[in-house]
Amino acid sequence: MRSTTTSSAAVLIVGLGMIGGSLAAALKASAYQGRVLACDRDPEEIAKGLEMGVIDAGGPELETWVAQSDIVVLAVPVLAMASVFERLAGCLGERILTDVGSTKGVVCEAAAQAFGALPTRFVPGHPIAGSEKSGVAAANPALYRRHKVILTPQPEADRDAVDQVRALWQGCGAEVLEMSVARHDQVLARTSHLPHMLAFSLVDTLARQDERLEIFRYAAGGFRDFTRIAGSDPVMWRDIFCANREALLGALDEFEAGLSRLRRAVEQGDSDAMLGTFDRASHARHHFETLLNQTSYQTMEARQVQYEVSPGGAVNGRIRVPGDKSISHRSIMLGALANGVTEVKGFLEGEDSLATLQAFRDMGVAIEGPYQGRVTIHGVGLHGLTKPAGPIYVGNSGTAMRLFAGLLAGQEFDTELTGDASLTKRPMARVADPLRLMGARIDTAEGGRPPLKIHGGQPLKGIDYDMPMASAQVKSCLLLAGLYAKGETRVREPAPTRDHTERMLNGFGYPVAREGDLAKLQGGGALTSAPIDVPSDISSATFFLVAAAITPGSDLVLEHVGVNPTRIGVINILKQMGADLRLENPREVGGEPVADLHIRHAPLKGIDIPVDQVPLAIDEFPALFVAAANAEGTTRLRGAEELRVKESDRIKAMADGLEILGVETTVYPDGIDVVGKGGDQPNYGGGQVDSLGDHRIAMAFTVAALRASAPIVIDDCANVATSFPGFVDLANRVGLTLVQTTR
Ligand code: S3P
Repeated sequence: MRSTTTSSAAVLIVGLGMIGGSLAAALKASAYQGRVLACDRDPEEIAKGLEMGVIDAGGPELETWVAQSDIVVLAVPVLAMASVFERLAGCLGERILTDVGSTKGVVCEAAAQAFGALPTRFVPGHPIAGSEKSGVAAANPALYRRHKVILTPQPEADRDAVDQVRALWQGCGAEVLEMSVARHDQVLARTSHLPHMLAFSLVDTLARQDERLEIFRYAAGGFRDFTRIAGSDPVMWRDIFCANREALLGALDEFEAGLSRLRRAVEQGDSDAMLGTFDRASHARHHFETLLNQTSYQTMEARQVQYEVSPGGAVNGRIRVPGDKSISHRSIMLGALANGVTEVKGFLEGEDSLATLQAFRDMGVAIEGPYQGRVTIHGVGLHGLTKPAGPIYVGNSGTAMRLFAGLLAGQEFDTELTGDASLTKRPMARVADPLRLMGARIDTAEGGRPPLKIHGGQPLKGIDYDMPMASAQVKSCLLLAGLYAKGETRVREPAPTRDHTERMLNGFGYPVAREGDLAKLQGGGALTSAPIDVPSDISSATFFLVAAAITPGSDLVLEHVGVNPTRIGVINILKQMGADLRLENPREVGGEPVADLHIRHAPLKGIDIPVDQVPLAIDEFPALFVAAANAEGTTRLRGAEELRVKESDRIKAMADGLEILGVETTVYPDGIDVVGKGGDQPNYGGGQVDSLGDHRIAMAFTVAALRASAPIVIDDCANVATSFPGFVDLANRVGLTLVQTTR
């Protein structure tokens, strides 16, 4: 045996079928430096492998080929492995041994029996990839690319051997994971063996009913998608079912219980139960797709969305924009932590709040919907969440990540919070630092960035904290951690920030007291479910407020908008600029003030934005800069450094885009001056601007087109779906001319 590294080790594949052949083909395609050998009882398979060029040499005698190799890969059916192990026991020596069997318990038992104990250089493996075709002729060099390979080495395994096997698969483009043998077999029983069992059984059942197989003529996509895997190799699957019997039967029991529940619902015509089941399943399926594609929550594939907005037009009508994002996140969080069932109306079905909803499903909370903004949350109480199976993915949402950090710090189990590329750049030390003062254990990536690893089971204590920045997210995070803390948690804010968390906690019977700039609560209480009516989001309404304010001939009513005093900076600022804006029909729903906003065009003038309005309008500045570009004179903003760490650096993103349109700006570390021309003529040109994947930058430049002299093309707009699903349709409905293209 030669002493080698993986890149030049001679690899012997025992069993040159589709799986082994694909490994050989992948190694060859990756210009693997070592020799690729094969041993197979069937000389025709070896001849075919040589002819295809996927192996360098091979033959039927095991011992001969083992002697020439450094790494032996067993790719024979699982039940045939025992006899191969017995022959290998006499000739393997110190060579690395791995396998591709799709059950690991029986393979390890057979190896232990043949060798006397598991060899330390044995690294059991399982590539999660396959095809219903068999034989080396079906070898596919791309089969493992971007697929997972699970390794299940025993704790005593030789790490060098594990690393070499890992490198071998990574060289084929696979993502390599490690887990225990038992966990592997349970997971695979549920996610692979059970679906194969159902597919085989369904096709067989139908085939028995109709010997001439005529019935399949009428089968369409649903049948094809569900049963594709019933075309797989029968011998291999017989072996797998025998090998993983216990775990498979366990999975089947769970499935049968679920199927009987559904059967009962169908028998009894219980449409709520049916909808609940289908809903949970449909959302879980979407979530699965998201994980596969590593894209934002609802997005099925990475999309490049571009808006092309024609210049001119006016906005008119009565519209209702989607539900408030901040309140939607909180409704799910507090509803899940409450005792009892919480009914939510007006929930925002945007990607951000849907990611929060999915995260609670992943932590064992039953949630029905959303259906046209209605969500029913079956609360589990403050201590009823269960450990999610993997990291919690919150997409683009800073609010979700920061609020989750607080509430997960108080759980008994460990969690990891991850997000998309934009979120991964955003600062999390602002929550991790004070949470650590409370006793939490949190690891961040470099520079206090996501992902956040939160260690459960840490006793928390209340702290008295002066926030260095005016942040509702930090305040809310600490109050949520405070629910789990001993004693009182006190958070002081340098300026008022949105108070939805405090209002909703009070609404759920959990007292949060306010003393001037201080919010405080006692740990150790309980939340009781209460209905939630989510008002329309003033941050989404803002784009249409600005659209109407800047465009002659506009007259628009935005219905049922949340006008919480901690959110109305945009109303105050627009009025100060001269906007004709009225609050009509003011009322209160579920603890939040609401009104219809009636706005008509009126000439605007530039102003110095009062610093005390900044936190109250923090998300509205991209649109307000567009208002400023259409006002007469200069609008000055200062004290807004927080804008630099939103979904993008919003000062820079807006200044860059406005410059392309020909609007004069001066940028400061904490703000911007925007010089507007005023008057009724177009105030700037068109051009192609980059939203940097920031939803609010994309929507701000959309409304800017109303006063441009040429079309505005906006790149990277997919994230509008995080906060404003249906934006394009609504914009066109009120009078903008906007075309969306997706690549
Ligand atoms: C939010 C608070 C604000 C805001 C964000 C939503 C919330 O962030 O910008 O869009 O729901 O608490 P900061 O609290 O970080 O200013």
